[in-house]
Amino acid sequence: MSAVEGVDPARSRVFGEVAEAYDASRPGYADALVSQVLAYADLGGRPALEVGAGTGKATVQFAGRGVPLTCVEPDPRMAEVLRRNAAPYPHVRVEVGGFEEWEAAGRRFGLLFAATCWHWFAPERRWDLVHDALVPGGAVALFWNPHGVLDPEVYEELADVDRRFGVTGSPHGVPAATFGDEPGQGGEPFWPAGECRADGRFTDLTAFRYRQETRYGTERYLGFLASISSYRVLSAERLDGVLAETAKVLDARGGGIDMLHVSDLFLARRRA
Ligand SMILES: C[S@@+](CC[C@H](N)C(=O)[O-])C[C@H]1O[C@@H](n2cnc3c(N)ncnc32)[C@H](O)[C@@H]1O
Repeated sequence: MSAVEGVDPARSRVFGEVAEAYDASRPGYADALVSQVLAYADLGGRPALEVGAGTGKATVQFAGRGVPLTCVEPDPRMAEVLRRNAAPYPHVRVEVGGFEEWEAAGRRFGLLFAATCWHWFAPERRWDLVHDALVPGGAVALFWNPHGVLDPEVYEELADVDRRFGVTGSPHGVPAATFGDEPGQGGEPFWPAGECRADGRFTDLTAFRYRQETRYGTERYLGFLASISSYRVLSAERLDGVLAETAKVLDARGGGIDMLHVSDLFLARRRA
């Protein structure tokens, strides 16, 4: 989520402060994306590992398909909401900790997935960690939810608000028209294909882009913004100011915002 989040590790632990708002306002992922991941991984009943599970936005989508899941999440406040969301699925296990510290304890998985969080894992170690967590032939699925503003005038007005408040990343920081059909293009500076190819231990690299249009009501949209790291690092005064000005722009047009909601998926397989 490019325009949304950066790679500064200090920003990676800000989500728990707003775990409930995060859960209430953030979007999930395209159902077709979940189907594609499962078809590619061909688990045949084997378990999957989810890293950076947050409050379980992707977790429940995979758990609902019957996949046995181990979920790793470092923030105890996010993990608490995750446990609640996963409660209907006894085949979901939650382990609190960062990916870098996680103890595999001899376990290997047929699928590892990470939703909107690959960019938070230590760049120099993440491919080793993925490789070691997978059985030979196991699949890795990395996905994000970039957004674009459908109305160019709304985009311009919100860009002006962001400039005034020094916001450097926002889901409305990109006009929808800039998204083509190529996965990773237009919204995702952390796109992992280059790194994965250079690593050399993975094969069958492929990618997909799913597009849908979503309308956020003003309140939900402000909750979404307030859950994003680039907003969380603002002072309370600046945060209140930017949210109030954003609301003013949206409400002057009748409230809410129409967004292109893209789900970008990257897939690869550990060489056998
Ligand atoms: C933007 S949230 C995404 C959460 C969830 N996957 C989703 O799709 O809504 C990023 C998540 O990554 C987690 N995270 C940050 N650094 C991590 C690390 N080193 N290892 C595992 N998870 C991490 C954060 O605590 C947070 O829950």
